[in-house]
Amino acid sequence: MITLNSPLDMHLHLRDNNMLKIVAPLSSKDFAGAVVMPNLVPPITSIYEVKAYRDRIKDAIKDDNFEPFMTLFFKSDYDYDFLKEAKKYIKSIKLYPAGITTNSEDGVSSINVEELRNTLEAMSELELPLCIHGESNGFVMDREKEFVPVYQALAKAFPNLKIIMEHITTKDSVEALKKYENLYATITLHHLLITLDDVAGGLLQPHLFCKPIAKRPEDKKALLDIALSGNKKVMFGSDSAPHPKSAKEAPGCAAGVFTAPIILPKLVELFDSYDKLENLQAFISDNAREIYNLTPLKKDITLKKEEWKVPSEYDGVVPMFAGQKLSWKIQ
Ligand code: NCD
Ligand code: ZN
Repeated sequence: MITLNSPLDMHLHLRDNNMLKIVAPLSSKDFAGAVVMPNLVPPITSIYEVKAYRDRIKDAIKDDNFEPFMTLFFKSDYDYDFLKEAKKYIKSIKLYPAGITTNSEDGVSSINVEELRNTLEAMSELELPLCIHGESNGFVMDREKEFVPVYQALAKAFPNLKIIMEHITTKDSVEALKKYENLYATITLHHLLITLDDVAGGLLQPHLFCKPIAKRPEDKKALLDIALSGNKKVMFGSDSAPHPKSAKEAPGCAAGVFTAPIILPKLVELFDSYDKLENLQAFISDNAREIYNLTPLKKDITLKKEEWKVPSEYDGVVPMFAGQKLSWKIQ
């Protein structure tokens, strides 16, 4: 048996409408809170939209003890007064390079210090963390590596701004993270488990296709080393990104792995397999509390060693490990 106190998912896609109703309860049952990504169509860019989206999430999760930590979609023309007001409703702002991933067309087209200075200085002063999808538009396996200099330039230019490197997938990112005090990172479950070989080494696996794409064995090892150690600069962020089965099993497969229903059992299994269960609490909650300076709702989740079979789909959305047996079960 293991009990996790207030597990947090610091990078989650809940979508909207019918998809929101399908997926939100799967996270709100197992977690005490989650950072909700703003890449809807259109993206969440106003306080009105943040509040309305939060209400729709609250409706979808019914009475579950779960706090959606809202985010805004980064725009370089947000000013100090707007951000000061927004801060009452959001926990961070998410920056997407334009066109780099699902629903990021309205992102930033040139990411450089001067272009972003006004907004980032205001965020820094207001102590609002900046979450970044850090990929260039280069060759797919090099995109994250090519973005590292941008992270470094931003970290240096805004030393009081907490910058969160979202869903890191490479050894280079792990090294960069260690060099700058104000850089932090989220790590997904799937990037701790798979490499590009699992996605495209045999028959193509659309349900494992995501941005950033899973990388090399040595990258996975670097991610595992830092996550399993409980290092205070990394926290769990699933990047659970549901798409309808028809959009995944299609020519032009949508990017995103839907992990929400299997996260905690699989993380326990993983940390247990490396004999590191004692560090899971830090990774799944404690580090995030410190990085984001938040006190989550109190919620204990207990898991027991007991076999169960992952459903093949949840209302037309296929989860990672669909139809497979897992060895830990939430009580
Ligand atoms: C995410 C989505 O579908 O919204 N997709 C993904 O492959 N991770 C967007 C993102 O986080 O990049
Ligand atoms: Zn994401």
